[in-house]
Amino acid sequence: MSHTKTPHAFFSPMAIGAPEPFRQLPTSLERMIHFIPPHNEKIRSKIPDMIKQVDVILGNLEDAIPLDAKEAARSGFIDIAASNDFGNTGLWTRVNCLNSPWFLDDITEIVSKVGNKVDVIMLPKVEGPWDIHYLDQLLAQLEAKHDVKRPILIHAILETAQGVNNIEEIAAASPRMHGMSLGPADLAASRGMKTTRVGGGHPFYGVLEDPHADSEQQRTLFQQDLWHYTVARMVDACMGHGIKAFYGPFGDFSDSDACRAQFRNAFLQGCVGTWTLHPNQIAIAKSVFSPDKEEVLFAKRILEAMPDGTGAVMIDGKMQDDATWKQAKVIVDLAKMVAKRDPELAEAYEMS
Ligand code: GLV
Ligand code: MG
Repeated sequence: MSHTKTPHAFFSPMAIGAPEPFRQLPTSLERMIHFIPPHNEKIRSKIPDMIKQVDVILGNLEDAIPLDAKEAARSGFIDIAASNDFGNTGLWTRVNCLNSPWFLDDITEIVSKVGNKVDVIMLPKVEGPWDIHYLDQLLAQLEAKHDVKRPILIHAILETAQGVNNIEEIAAASPRMHGMSLGPADLAASRGMKTTRVGGGHPFYGVLEDPHADSEQQRTLFQQDLWHYTVARMVDACMGHGIKAFYGPFGDFSDSDACRAQFRNAFLQGCVGTWTLHPNQIAIAKSVFSPDKEEVLFAKRILEAMPDGTGAVMIDGKMQDDATWKQAKVIVDLAKMVAKRDPELAEAYEMS
């Protein structure tokens, strides 16, 4: 007996009257998912400005929202969704986790009141495909009931050891899957990692160079990226299933350089964006997750030199073939999306 749906059933709505699932993810630029606490009235009043500055605004209902503000955060989010026009800026929410006393009301109230405004629901502490299946069914029922026109997507946070073990099944669980983010704080706790930091490296995690001939000479410890393994695994699971991978939170707001370095590792490895928790991280994310100008200009030269994407040519002494053509296309496709949103970068990429 098979435990997976037939391809036909996989792409059928899970409730009569729910919208057709997407067969392909809508293409949207999501360099930063900017977290805001929706119960804060001052922050709510800044949303119209923020819409112009970030690719995605996320109303956070889960961790970092105090117990006595959980309901206010939910109604604040509904108010934000109802009273703003988001244009091309994404509107997401991070709901409370499945076993919390708030999850059911988070979903039912949000979908019933502003289901047509919300693009993506971020689901925390996902352990396996069963978590996605449950939310998938619930969303379909509510979409049908409240006449929601397009499917609300699901984004999983990768933040438990079991979630990492089940990463492929999570990625494949539903056509609603939008992507995943690394949750380094919860994941560190779940795995028993010995760090109190939220993302970033650790000075003791490294490789010690070999002893020198002169035994007096200090040996250098080369710090390594604690998150390398998980990010790599997440990128393969996501890209293998046609969904997107994101870095998550970087908690030390005072260390912009370390934040930039962590974001950049994620970008180079294949992530398309990151969370920004503090306004000063927005510019960092924008610069890191928009491709480098020189790289874009070089990639354009590769595409121009190989119009049909085959053969082999030399550019500036570097070998190009069908595979580098594909690498170049990744960069140019991203640059085109960025150029549409950002006139300054359009000019830098010579795409205006
Ligand atoms: C994010 O939710 C994290 O736990 O790092
Ligand atoms: Mg978390």
